[in-house]
Amino acid sequence: MVTGCWVLVGIVVGSICYYWFVSSSNKSKEKEEEEEKEKENQDQYVKGRPQVPKGRLGWPLIGETLDFIACGYTSRPVSFMESRTSQYGKVFKTHILGTPIIVSTDAEVNKVVLQNHGNTFVPAYPKSIKELLGKNSILQINGSLHKRVHGLIGGFLKSPQFKARITRDIENSVKLNLAGWTDHMHHPIYIQDETQKITFEVLVRVLMSIGPGEDLNFLKREFEEFIKGLICLPIKLPGTRLYKSLKARERLLKMVGKIVEEKRKAKTQERGGPVCDAMDALLRDSCDSNDAQRLPLDYVAGNIIEMMIPGEETVPMAMTLAVKYLSDSPVALDKLREENMELKKQKVDSSENYLWTDYMSLPFTQNVISETLRMANIINAIWRKAPGDVEIKGYLIPKGWCVLASFSSVHMDEENYEHPYQFNPWRWEKGEAALNYSTSFTPFGGGQRLCPGLELSRLELSIFLHHLVTSYKWVAEKDEIIHFPTVKMKRKLPISITSTIT
Ligand code: HEM
Repeated sequence: MVTGCWVLVGIVVGSICYYWFVSSSNKSKEKEEEEEKEKENQDQYVKGRPQVPKGRLGWPLIGETLDFIACGYTSRPVSFMESRTSQYGKVFKTHILGTPIIVSTDAEVNKVVLQNHGNTFVPAYPKSIKELLGKNSILQINGSLHKRVHGLIGGFLKSPQFKARITRDIENSVKLNLAGWTDHMHHPIYIQDETQKITFEVLVRVLMSIGPGEDLNFLKREFEEFIKGLICLPIKLPGTRLYKSLKARERLLKMVGKIVEEKRKAKTQERGGPVCDAMDALLRDSCDSNDAQRLPLDYVAGNIIEMMIPGEETVPMAMTLAVKYLSDSPVALDKLREENMELKKQKVDSSENYLWTDYMSLPFTQNVISETLRMANIINAIWRKAPGDVEIKGYLIPKGWCVLASFSSVHMDEENYEHPYQFNPWRWEKGEAALNYSTSFTPFGGGQRLCPGLELSRLELSIFLHHLVTSYKWVAEKDEIIHFPTVKMKRKLPISITSTIT
């Protein structure tokens, strides 16, 4: 299945490569013009003034794309960046996936790009993605409207009331699914697929309060069809991939639109009613607020669908990789189990329910999650475009150029993390990693577009790990992490799992 996180970022670089391959030949003229413009910029900015970063643009048309992709298939995908940073410095220019681009592996430059003061950058996506997202998607809009939608969603997902409610739902979903895994005594469980079932259920509940049943199955089916087209030829003729995906989007819009309408009617009767899901949060702004800037009603259904994209594959991939790293690090697994068994015992002894704060306050568990996110680099970079010249730290990003802020380079840099390829949750205890937390650790991005699902994701991961390690043991089969075009397990991580409850 095509990955959701591709899209989100627009970014995850491989996502763009298919689009690039099919469109690059039409773009050669455009490229020539861009290269000329870049030369002009080089001449314009003389010594002492901001400079376009050094680097090379590679072959005509394809630039350095082949090298970039080849590195993506190795176990060290950041080696493309490493070889250039050693030659040109931490910020360099190259030409990949059909566009000249400035790549930043510098945590401070990345921070400025993420903060985006003065809206100097806009998100950049390939055409097929833009087409499917709709122009009002949170992933594409900018400025005050973006700020408003982001604030509404972020505020709702962060609220303690929401977290208290969703904790029960996540627990139920995790426990039910885990119990089902042990029924497959003689077959392996493919963690990558199974965790997706858990997180999709949670996501749909978070967004529009739909529980298991026909509607959920419909959403899953149509959503899968929809996201298949995110990376495809940008041709909309009947029979094409894009066309089919647009049709699936129409069906999704129809169904979600119906729910919006029902909720809107209920809200008119009961002004100021409870906010149970993300849809309610958007609707309250749209219907109850008198602010002239309030969210137009017809933005709601589209945005709910588009918010499924970043949430859909990121959390299950983080769960899968946590299982992988823990399977390879028995000492970390023992410590994790010990910490979680203690909490479980407390809860059994007191017959109390778990609170979301119980899960989130286990220090070693949180360190395991941070370390997983650092190494996994599920969203490995973000991709932006500069509508005008931008200067950062003495570098010039010329008007019209794209910038790739590489998170994985920062997460795997020895200057930031000792032995970066070692899974070492203890590094977070020492403060080594926590020191530059805001600049050197950005699995959820930062600034204006900081992932609003950050805390929800950590909560889901905590609950999943708690019930997994306190009630089961498992043996993982040999598998490899693939980093391109997005992070995946080659064999979906097969495990044999048994219950430890007697
Ligand atoms: C481990 C899990 C996750 C990771 C690593 C992750 C990562 C990210 C990153 C890096 C961004 C910033 C993209 C950019 O700057 O262009 C982002 C944005 C976003 N994420 Fe997440 N995410 C995760 C889970 C989720 C979940 C569960 C949801 C849904 C509830 C979600 C919803 C969003 C939305 C709506 C945005 C767009 C925010 C905006 O543009 O204002 N994410 N995510």
